[in-house]
Amino acid sequence: MDDQAIKEILITEEEIKKRVKELGDEISKDYIGKEPVVLGILKGAVVFLSDLIREIKIPINIDFMAVSSYGKSSVSTGEVRIIKDLDYSVEDKDIIIVEDIIDTGLTLGYLKELLVKRGAKSVKICTLLDKPERRKIEIDVDYMGFKIPDEFIIGYGLDYNEKYRNYPFVASLKEEYYK
Ligand code: IMP
Ligand code: MG
Repeated sequence: MDDQAIKEILITEEEIKKRVKELGDEISKDYIGKEPVVLGILKGAVVFLSDLIREIKIPINIDFMAVSSYGKSSVSTGEVRIIKDLDYSVEDKDIIIVEDIIDTGLTLGYLKELLVKRGAKSVKICTLLDKPERRKIEIDVDYMGFKIPDEFIIGYGLDYNEKYRNYPFVASLKEEYYK
C-alpha cells in the first residue's frame, strides 16, 4: 500500500463493520414485507454495497448505475450523465440508492428525481459518508454511516484518480497528493 498518501485514518475497518451492520439491521426492519432494489452507484459504492447487502436480512434485488457530472457549465443544475443505466425498470419498485459519499448532493438530487419520474414507488438514500459542509442543495438522507469533515477522502471504495479504492478503512488524503 502507498501509505505515504494517507494523512489520517478517519474510520477504521472495525468501526465501518459495526456501523454497516447497524444500517443493515435498520433497512431490514424498515422494509419488512417488501423486496427493495438496492441500487449501487458505480464505482465508489461497490465496497460499501457488498458489505451492506450481507447485513440485510430480507429479500432484495441489486442493480447498478454509473454516472458522471457534466462539465462546469451545468454544475448548477446538477445534471449528470448516465454512463451505465439500470438493467431493470424501477416502476413500482422501492429503491434504496447506495452511495459512497454525499458532497454537494447534486448527483443524488438528480438521480432521486429521475427515479421518481420513472415511476419508482419510493426512493430512499443510503450513504456511507456525508460531508454536510459542502452541500449545495437540500437532500433527505435516510441512512447515513458517518459524518466527515471537508477533506479529500479515500478508501473503502472511494478513490483519487481511481487509486486507493481497495483500502479497508476511510482516510483523508494528504493535500500535496491532490492539489
Ligand atoms: P456530489 O454530487 O457533489 O454529492 O458528488 C458525490 C460524488 O463525488 C461521490 O459519489 C464521489 O464519487 C465524489 N466525491 C466527493 N467527495 C469525495 C471525496 O472526498 N473523495 C472521493 N470522492 C469524492
Ligand atoms: Mg462516486
